[in-house]
Amino acid sequence: MPEIDTKIEPVPEKKFYLETFGCQMNVHDSEKVIGTLINEGYAQVDTVEAADLVLYNTCSIRDKAEQKVFNRLSDYKKYQKQGKKFGVLGCVAQQEGEKIFERAPYVSLVAGSASYRNLPQMLVQLEAGNNRVTGLDDRQTDQTFDTEFTARTNKHRGYITIIEGCDKFCAYCVVPYTRGKERSRTSQSVLAEAKRMADSGYTDIQLLGQNVNSFKDPSGELTFAGLLLAVAQVPGIRRVRFTTSHPRDFTRDIVEAIESEPRLCDHVHLPVQSGSSRLLKAMLREYTREQYLERISWMKAAKRHISISTDIIVGFPGETIEDFEQTITLLEEVQFDAVFAFKYSARPNTSAIRMPDSIPEEEKSKRLAVLLERQRQIQSTNYQRHLGEVAQVMIEGRNEARGQMLGRHSQNKTVNFTTSALIQPAVGSYVDVRITKALPNSLVGEMVI
Ligand code: 5AD
Ligand code: SF4
Repeated sequence: MPEIDTKIEPVPEKKFYLETFGCQMNVHDSEKVIGTLINEGYAQVDTVEAADLVLYNTCSIRDKAEQKVFNRLSDYKKYQKQGKKFGVLGCVAQQEGEKIFERAPYVSLVAGSASYRNLPQMLVQLEAGNNRVTGLDDRQTDQTFDTEFTARTNKHRGYITIIEGCDKFCAYCVVPYTRGKERSRTSQSVLAEAKRMADSGYTDIQLLGQNVNSFKDPSGELTFAGLLLAVAQVPGIRRVRFTTSHPRDFTRDIVEAIESEPRLCDHVHLPVQSGSSRLLKAMLREYTREQYLERISWMKAAKRHISISTDIIVGFPGETIEDFEQTITLLEEVQFDAVFAFKYSARPNTSAIRMPDSIPEEEKSKRLAVLLERQRQIQSTNYQRHLGEVAQVMIEGRNEARGQMLGRHSQNKTVNFTTSALIQPAVGSYVDVRITKALPNSLVGEMVI
């Protein structure tokens, strides 16, 4: 009988490296892309050198973010001789499309986020030697990217996408062009994912979408506020957050849900962009300063103190000193706990690109500095409110240099605190901390035993 060679040759593992730029949506998309690749037989490596496939998940929200990607790609030109394949994913991919192949000829995959559900097929094409593989959905798809293969990096705190894309078309914003049209997941699929996460030890969930308030359950079962309550009631879940909200669609029942359910975190991120109704109109935001302040008043009247943060753009085309001053008075009126402020950056495809970018860069920088300084003072006073409070903190790590533990307040604030030498609580656990010091961006305290 002829001898049969039963030795199985090991299949060489395909190795990929992935670097992520941009927002939480991109960070979470990358977790799904990594999970999908691993499921397709790839292994993740930490360096470009060790990889066969190098992927960038890119951001194009402002010009600087976009330039970073092209700088990175030109840095890596040298690797093309080694036969590595390069792929550009995310917002720059969708925005620039096949032009990327001309600018960086060693790139062989260009795919926007609305096409990630087709990643396995795109990988097959890449492996077959196709060096012009594209996934550019361009607002065509109604489908979401639901996968069980999400490779979450944090074992206690995780994201769940509830809605993808955006139909708002604010004058400055590239997102409706890069992430496709608005499409919600069913509440059953969101809840099933929350249950799976809770079963594997997750206690803190952040629901994600470009505009979570326009969530429309395709099965018609739950409103957004109803979904918040349902996720918070999944056994094992202790904290639920959500981002980002749009003031026009932000409804009172969301505040009522936070009031009634302590597992819904007492923090809302509600981007205002400008304090001037005239400018909000030019930005096509579909609300006025007064309407924004009305939503704030709902939160301020709530039985629980709700921490509020926002995003602001300075130097939008035509922003006068009076408009800018109205932004400052809005900051003073609302007393935000955090402000993310940006200089206006003209973006391709958007309607504002046709308006002259009228505010000189220097003036934008000046306004930004004035705003940040005013906000620093507001925050210093705001954070003092926590002095003496005993807050529940989820432990995220240890600051060895300071001999302190690092944790997160339910209002999303960082808390550095000391413990007794005998007790070293584990990462992911919840402890009570007495707040003894307030800094403009973080709190300091000691664990209560
Ligand atoms: N220029 C500057 N900032 C922008 N943002 C969005 N588009 C632009 C742009 N073209 C800001 C908004 C948004 C945040 C995510 O980024 O404040 O809320
Ligand atoms: Fe996120 Fe917008 Fe940047 Fe895309 S362009 S990564 S959606 S911030």
